[in-house]
Amino acid sequence: MPRRISAIALAGVIAMTLSACGGGSTGADAGGSGGGDKLVMGFSQVGAESGWRTANTKSVQDSAKTAGIELKFSDAQQKQENQIKAIRSFIQQKVDVIAFSPVVESGWDTVLKEAQNAKIPVVLTDRAVDSKDTSLYKTFLGSDFIEEGKKAGQWLVDQYKDETGDVNIVELQGTTGSAPANDRKAGFGEVIAADPKFKIIASQTGDFTRAKGKEVMEAFLKSNSDIDVLFAHNDDMGLGAIEAIEGAGKVPGKDIKIITIDAVKDGMQALADGKINYIVECSPLLGPQLMDLAKKVVAGEAVPQRVVTEETTFTQEKAKEVLSSRQY
Ligand code: AHR
Repeated sequence: MPRRISAIALAGVIAMTLSACGGGSTGADAGGSGGGDKLVMGFSQVGAESGWRTANTKSVQDSAKTAGIELKFSDAQQKQENQIKAIRSFIQQKVDVIAFSPVVESGWDTVLKEAQNAKIPVVLTDRAVDSKDTSLYKTFLGSDFIEEGKKAGQWLVDQYKDETGDVNIVELQGTTGSAPANDRKAGFGEVIAADPKFKIIASQTGDFTRAKGKEVMEAFLKSNSDIDVLFAHNDDMGLGAIEAIEGAGKVPGKDIKIITIDAVKDGMQALADGKINYIVECSPLLGPQLMDLAKKVVAGEAVPQRVVTEETTFTQEKAKEVLSSRQY
């Protein structure tokens, strides 16, 4: 009798040990933090600076749910040090994959090396890093920001082709050191450089926010009486600038022509209303492709080093046509 009891107890101990070791689990949870069946992604987002960012966050969160991926989401509030902390925490938690949209381009090598040493693949989304060692990340999904800047410049060149006098431009740059600010400036500058009548008379960061866009535009208006064109690196800064222009008694879209980038709903509304003249699209709906790429890199499948988002441009007429069906 005592022998039978100890046999039952021994069977119980063996069963408990097996389940603690994760016996019977699938390959998908190997290396993941949760020990469940779901692939775990650590995602470090830039912040909540713009309508674009809000739409991007929603796309990432919704797509993770649809793809059955457990998302550990962290908001860096536009600070690189917060992103580095978040990535280190993801490494400690042994997530299956890390994805992030870098606030700025430089200064990532050390933390990316730490992820590589921990054998956790990294996917860049939306923004690039300037690391020379491209083996530090598996792929980069996002827009071609240089091309966006070029499209903005080309519209300007076409609009002013018959103009003989100077065209005075003010520029609201995105976050200093960020890939979209660097590249949009470069692409725009390259195209307008073909004609010396285009003059950038003031250029300053508005940090991609509406409030900063307004503040900097107010300063531009105070120190420059003859502004013909505003090139804003995103819709939000352009929308803030519109408030400043109206506050100064001028008519946005007429007295000062405005070109922006993104094509979020508020921007498209202003375009349809004639307050913005041209918008270059930058799509925030990166979530589905991101989840797909993440699954592939975790499974060890080959992925392209660069996946470029397809985008278009909008005139005022086109904005009126598509406004009601705009998703974000
Ligand atoms: O990186 C994409 C840019 O970041 C968007 O154009 C801007 O609105 C956002 O803040």
